[in-house]
Amino acid sequence: MTDIDLSCYKERQMKRRIDSYAQNKGFNDYNSFADFLRRDPDQLASFVDYITINVSEFFRNPEQWEYLENEVIPKLSQKSKVRIWSAACSTGDEPYSLAMLFLKYLPRVRFSITATDIDDLSIAAAREGIYSAKSIKAVPEEFRGYFTQVANEKYAIAPEIKKCVNFRKHNLLKDEFPMNMDLIVCRNVLIYFTEEKKEELFKQFYDSLGRGGILFLGNTEQMMDYRSIGYTRMASFFYEKS
Ligand SMILES: C[S@@+](CC[C@H](N)C(=O)[O-])C[C@H]1O[C@@H](n2cnc3c(N)ncnc32)[C@H](O)[C@@H]1O
Repeated sequence: MTDIDLSCYKERQMKRRIDSYAQNKGFNDYNSFADFLRRDPDQLASFVDYITINVSEFFRNPEQWEYLENEVIPKLSQKSKVRIWSAACSTGDEPYSLAMLFLKYLPRVRFSITATDIDDLSIAAAREGIYSAKSIKAVPEEFRGYFTQVANEKYAIAPEIKKCVNFRKHNLLKDEFPMNMDLIVCRNVLIYFTEEKKEELFKQFYDSLGRGGILFLGNTEQMMDYRSIGYTRMASFFYEKS
């Protein structure tokens, strides 16, 4: 029915979400709920959208973005072209934040941003690029001009920033990873996966990075045995493939 392998997600948390969604729709048993989803692709898309948890915002955890700007971007800028992958990008807040920062230091031809997510509805929202006041609240003053108010509490992102990001669907649990990345940003999704899966993904990210490439993780997703994989720790949440 979908490509999502639920056994890779933390079981209790996932079960709670599925149960609450099914009950909300008036189902008390899994079989009839599954039949309902099988019959209606729109309902299935809404269900996937719900269980994948799409909360995001621009410049989420601003201290990490300051580190990115002050330490990571200068280092990566030495390359002739910087290849960036925002994995599990949700509604685009994260890759568009990356675009604003990189555009400050590099012309557009010197970096590329691929942004991926498993959820079709999130990718559609990302491509549309309309955001609430809440999701843009941490945008630094210097980048505020990239937003135009289009309705009450709704802001459209500038075409100039949109053009910097290439969105596509990608399932971290199943699809091939792109190669030779200089920066992989994967934040606030690994917490939903089992420990074993998380370890596997850290290794896959390592293989996906080129030499000197950097992995940027979310605030609850530190890597414990990064050394055994081959990373060096630059700072909390930043790991380099040496
Ligand atoms: C909480 S959001 C994080 C968004 C953004 N990275 C951030 O930190 O603000 C988690 C995202 O992970 C995506 N996701 C969940 N399982 C996934 C998978 N197997 N492959 C790719 N993306 C997945 C969800 O669709 C959702 O958009």
